[in-house]
Amino acid sequence: MTTAPVTVPTAPQADADWWRQASVYQIYPRSFADANGDGIGDLRGIISRVPYLEKLGVDAVWLSPFYPSALADGGYDVDDFRDVDPKIGTLEEFDEMVAALHGAGIKLVVDLVPNHTSDRHEWFREALASPKGSNARERYIFRDGEGEDGELPPADWTSIFNGPAWTRVEDGQWYLHSFATEQPDLNWKHPEVHEDFKRTLRFWSDRGVDGFRIDVAHGLAKDLGEVLPSKAELKAMPKDGTHPLWDRDEVHEIYAEWREVFEEYTPARTAVAEAWVETAERRAKYASPKGLGQAFNFDLMEADFDATHFRDIVTDNLGQSAKTGSSTTWVFSNHDGVRHATRYGLPPRAGRDVKQGAEWVLAGGPDDGIDRELGLRRARAATMFELALPGSAYLYQGEELGLHEVAEIPDEQRQDPSFWRSTPQTRGWDGLGRDGCRVPLPWTREGESFGFGSNGAHLPQPAWFADFSVEAEDGVEGSTLEMYRAALALRRQLQSAESLEWDERLSTDDVLAFERPGGWLSITNFGDDAVALPDGEALLSSASLEADEEGGLLLPGATTVWMRRTA
Ligand code: NOJ
Repeated sequence: MTTAPVTVPTAPQADADWWRQASVYQIYPRSFADANGDGIGDLRGIISRVPYLEKLGVDAVWLSPFYPSALADGGYDVDDFRDVDPKIGTLEEFDEMVAALHGAGIKLVVDLVPNHTSDRHEWFREALASPKGSNARERYIFRDGEGEDGELPPADWTSIFNGPAWTRVEDGQWYLHSFATEQPDLNWKHPEVHEDFKRTLRFWSDRGVDGFRIDVAHGLAKDLGEVLPSKAELKAMPKDGTHPLWDRDEVHEIYAEWREVFEEYTPARTAVAEAWVETAERRAKYASPKGLGQAFNFDLMEADFDATHFRDIVTDNLGQSAKTGSSTTWVFSNHDGVRHATRYGLPPRAGRDVKQGAEWVLAGGPDDGIDRELGLRRARAATMFELALPGSAYLYQGEELGLHEVAEIPDEQRQDPSFWRSTPQTRGWDGLGRDGCRVPLPWTREGESFGFGSNGAHLPQPAWFADFSVEAEDGVEGSTLEMYRAALALRRQLQSAESLEWDERLSTDDVLAFERPGGWLSITNFGDDAVALPDGEALLSSASLEADEEGGLLLPGATTVWMRRTA
């Protein structure tokens, strides 16, 4: 159904292309700021920190789930897609938050979780109370079990968080959950599921939300058939659009429907897909202007701090986005990965990736072999590299403080289901789980929960948070916070056409230099030894520059500088 276009309150720069080169700051609401003193961050906390976000200079906020939830998966287990968790606030406070952000010129992107509901969602409760084969069960993926009495799961599949992907209900049937038991997968072949999500998109768009981040966008369309393949067979199947569970071609029919909804608004609502797919070509389908419009690429998040890797990734992704007409995205940290300041301090390993990063963090403590100083230095250089690139930069709360992953969380205080559903033997990408990057932010050097709230924090904050607090870094020359502020402000001034040109004269195996239209030059030294800089005005650097004997400027190792060329 297409309704007449409506105009709703939006941020002042009501430019339809605002998202193309935006800096987007991810707020994990339960860990950002707690205004009501219950140890859990809330919407009032966010409202109170809008001046902070404005001063930071971000263009948009991506708000992770804030919906009613038992927090079986940090809010990605949603009880009601059209309400606010009472632990976090109310719909009225949501409206106030939108107005405050828009008043500060900041757009708002909310997380939408369409692959599954929580097991407390009214649909799932109805499904449990209804007989086999009922309409209520059809909204989910129920099957009879195997074995004489159906006592075995319909297939031996493992969930993404480890452990079985099927759970049995009272009358003996089993339901599919790709993630935790509390997250039953929806059946996107059911028309009511389609209608309900369109209603949700309009619900939040009518409240002034500017865009959506689509969780597990590659998982909605499924085709299970009568006979289910085994786990081993599933694994062997190509993910080329025909896999029964992931990245099926027909998922794009759903996004084409959503595109019609986005276009009902002025400016059109935007979307960015979280789609873990095999190739950049397949990712591009999600970023199509006829679909979601933009897709995350996590390539930099998975790469070593290495000039060749970075260059290949940038070239590949800019090429793909040029083909689709989308703009590309860059991410170093988010709520699912080991923070990049820590990742880059890991002992060198060939082909190391985020998974092994998590394993190292698992070691914890001061003798864990992580060089945190080097990690942060590289992270700052990487961030300035990212902020000079064309496309959108997605930043994760706390990275602007240079926060490290918190390794020292006692097991009994861990919340991440991926930790609880795995054993040290089966822990894969999640290693110690994802709690270490979700610890509530430190705002002050001292005091109750470092200024997060007045009554504790839902995950324990380590003593070293004091030195990474906003208070410790605010106004301090050279602090990570001041670097982010300066870089984001300059980026706004310098950002121009979505293109870059590699400077082949300056680039080497260890150095990447590129220029944006208008003469903005970014140079990153990934190596250890200082290199000479060309003539020009140095605008900002991620660490202090050095001088050679003749007074010429040198770029030390693990540093990025932005320059404006002089003739
Ligand atoms: C991806 C989200 O980023 C992650 O945090 C969540 O656990 C899964 N999707 C399941 O919703």
